Amino acid sequence: PSVNQIELNAFFRQRELVEYCRQENIAVMGYSPLSKGTGMNDPTLKAIAKKHKKSVAQAMIRWSVQNGFITIPKSAKFERISDNCDVFDFSLDHQDLAAIVSARNFLTLTN
Ligand SMILES: NC(=O)c1ccc[n+]([C@@H]2O[C@H](COP(=O)([O-])OP(=O)(O)OC[C@H]3O[C@@H](n4cnc5c(N)ncnc54)[C@H](OP(=O)(O)O)[C@@H]3O)[C@@H](O)[C@H]2O)c1
Repeated sequence: PSVNQIELNAFFRQRELVEYCRQENIAVMGYSPLSKGTGMNDPTLKAIAKKHKKSVAQAMIRWSVQNGFITIPKSAKFERISDNCDVFDFSLDHQDLAAIVSARNFLTLTN
């Protein structure tokens, strides 16, 4: 395949599958990049979002974009769709990325 669409977000990182796709030159498309809206109260993501003056949704989308994944967040609300696109004026730094990896939220085997 040229593209593999898989569930993929800051909480569900699918490390082995992503590495395999990269080795095989298969583009990775992450669905549910906002974890279906369930991660908005996560303390790690909240702290990262606050640090960058962004929302948790924007931090999650940035994580996905910054990893090079084709990213397809869904919202039925115009304002959120607009906000969700506004992720190209900041970057997650090494500290942020490490905090996401070490956060023991759920599905931690997929760092
Ligand atoms: N290939 C597959 O098997 C598969 C499976 C699932 C999904 N998908 C694709 O992936 C796309 C996205 O996945 P998804 O819908 O499962 O999950 P998602 O994009 O991770 O999350 C969508 C949820 O997040 C909420 N949301 C969106 N923006 C937000 C924001 N800025 N702040 C707070 N909440 C926000 C939405 O609510 P509101 O709508 O109320 O804003 C909705 O409840 C789908 O449209 C579909 O194309 C593919």
